[in-house]
Amino acid sequence: MTEKTWSVLVTGGAGYVGAVLVPKLLSVGHDVSVLDLYLYGEEVLNSVSNHPKLRQIKGDVRDTTTVEKSLVGCNAVIHLACISNDPSYDLDPELGRSINHSSFRPFVQASKAVGVERFIYASSSSVYGVKDDPVVTEDLELEPLTDYSKFKVICERELAEEQEPGFSTCVVRPATVCGYSPRQRMDVIVNILTNFAVNKGTIRVFGGDQKRPNIHIEDMANLYLFLLQKDDAEIDGKIYNAGYENHTVMQLAEIVKNVVGDNLTINVEPTDDQRSYHVSSDKIYKELGFKPTHTIEQAVIDLVAAMKDGRLNDTMNNPLYFNIKRMQAVNLK
Ligand SMILES: NC(=O)c1ccc[n+]([C@@H]2O[C@H](COP(=O)([O-])OP(=O)(O)OC[C@H]3O[C@@H](n4cnc5c(N)ncnc54)[C@H](O)[C@@H]3O)[C@@H](O)[C@H]2O)c1
Repeated sequence: MTEKTWSVLVTGGAGYVGAVLVPKLLSVGHDVSVLDLYLYGEEVLNSVSNHPKLRQIKGDVRDTTTVEKSLVGCNAVIHLACISNDPSYDLDPELGRSINHSSFRPFVQASKAVGVERFIYASSSSVYGVKDDPVVTEDLELEPLTDYSKFKVICERELAEEQEPGFSTCVVRPATVCGYSPRQRMDVIVNILTNFAVNKGTIRVFGGDQKRPNIHIEDMANLYLFLLQKDDAEIDGKIYNAGYENHTVMQLAEIVKNVVGDNLTINVEPTDDQRSYHVSSDKIYKELGFKPTHTIEQAVIDLVAAMKDGRLNDTMNNPLYFNIKRMQAVNLK
């Protein structure tokens, strides 16, 4: 099969997922424009900064002029830019609202105005809230619990309203992402457990039976590439969960222990918070044939290697690895 190549704008392309995705997009021949505030460092795309098909724009998705400039020549969008965890969001809800919601429809409409044909939106599996249903499929009612998730739901709906012939839309609801990226996050569960295991020799598990679905960052990035290869009719208007397995927190801790070593202690502590999340990723496999191929164990192995060989430094404290610390430091408005 010959690869379809796109001229794709990746918002948030200098974020945790973007920093793995952008080099992959370039490596298969896409033209890539990145629009990002570079909140987590200007050097995260250094490995490809001289690539002739990469254009980097430091700017804000809320700024109409910047958006119009970034979209010039693009026929696809992957929209990742976001204030992307609940604590960072709670720090300044109005900031979160302006980035995660108010700017969304104008951005979609600006994309349509310049002739973008395909718009892929990174939503979140947190839109379901906590479900008792044994299988959490895309058609279940959405019960988002936080503003972050509520705005993901609203943006999904606004995107559906903007869908029209010639403007295909696709929504991905990823599980929590894990593994190494040149823009590291250490505030997501597998990465947190690995960080404590390596640096403290002990992991605290609260409860342990709660499920936490994850997806390896390589699979996450590969999925966006995969969606660009599909025909409009296959993905237009579709919504897909994207996760690997629904491990419990204790299973995740055991995976980390298997990689990091037997000396590691797992301390189980009681908790009142028994919220358990799980998603089914069968639909994307049945309809499109996409299945993650990287295990959670591999994500842990990759993180440990990056900590040992110096790609990651001072991982317990470096504010660049923790969205909330970084958001406090930059005082973005
Ligand atoms: N990482 C996960 O576990 C996960 C899980 C589900 C969904 N998602 C979604 O995937 C997307 C990417 O997540 P991530 O982990 O890479 O997040 P991230 O926080 O690492 O990256 C977000 C990027 O957006 C940029 N950004 C923020 N506000 C901006 C603005 N106003 N204008 C331009 N750029 C701006 C930041 O500088 C950052 O580089 C997000 O939409 C997130 O909600 C992530």
